[in-house]
Amino acid sequence: MSGKRGFRGVVLVGFMGSGKTSVGKEIARRLGVPFEDVDDRVVAAAGMTVAEIFASRGEPAFRELERKAIREAVAVPGQVIATGGGAFLDEGNRKALKAYAAVVFLDVSRDSVVARLAGDRSRPLLSGRSRGLSARERDRRIEELMRRRRAAYELADFTVETDAGTVEQVAERVLALVAGGKPSGTAPDAHGGGGRRA
Ligand code: S3P
Repeated sequence: MSGKRGFRGVVLVGFMGSGKTSVGKEIARRLGVPFEDVDDRVVAAAGMTVAEIFASRGEPAFRELERKAIREAVAVPGQVIATGGGAFLDEGNRKALKAYAAVVFLDVSRDSVVARLAGDRSRPLLSGRSRGLSARERDRRIEELMRRRRAAYELADFTVETDAGTVEQVAERVLALVAGGKPSGTAPDAHGGGGRRA
């Protein structure tokens, strides 16, 4: 199934601060198709922020809500879907997202994440205050999480570097890659090293 003018959709995955939401909105604006943010769907369903869900109900409850939000999002063809940074680690989510459309890993360096998320209090996995993390411990946590997650992100169909360039330029790179369709031979979960890169 496909949406507007045969457009199947695009899915953006990658670490916190990689630009999934801003790039996703830009792609959707350019194509004139709906933008769907999985975290927003979770927040709307729970009636509280991501940080509040983690604090009051715990991470497993958040992940369950996230799985449900993804099932709902992929039921509507032709959207640009931005996922939360942990969503693509779950095998069921991966299968659903890869079956939906081309999945693009927005790759970002540790240094960019540290700079982009400095002062951010909305990400419970990195929030210094509630976890009692010093700035240095927080940076180390970012590095460790990124390392642990990389193999999962690389199961995406395509990889786009996001350190250099504006949101508009990154959106253009994503569009140029997905315009050619999924790379052949990408079985669901086959390790393709993140597919074609831009
Ligand atoms: C998470 C990333 C967040 C949000 C939650 C957990 C993660 O989304 O889903 O805080 O596990 O990396 P963003 O990647 O949009 O920050």
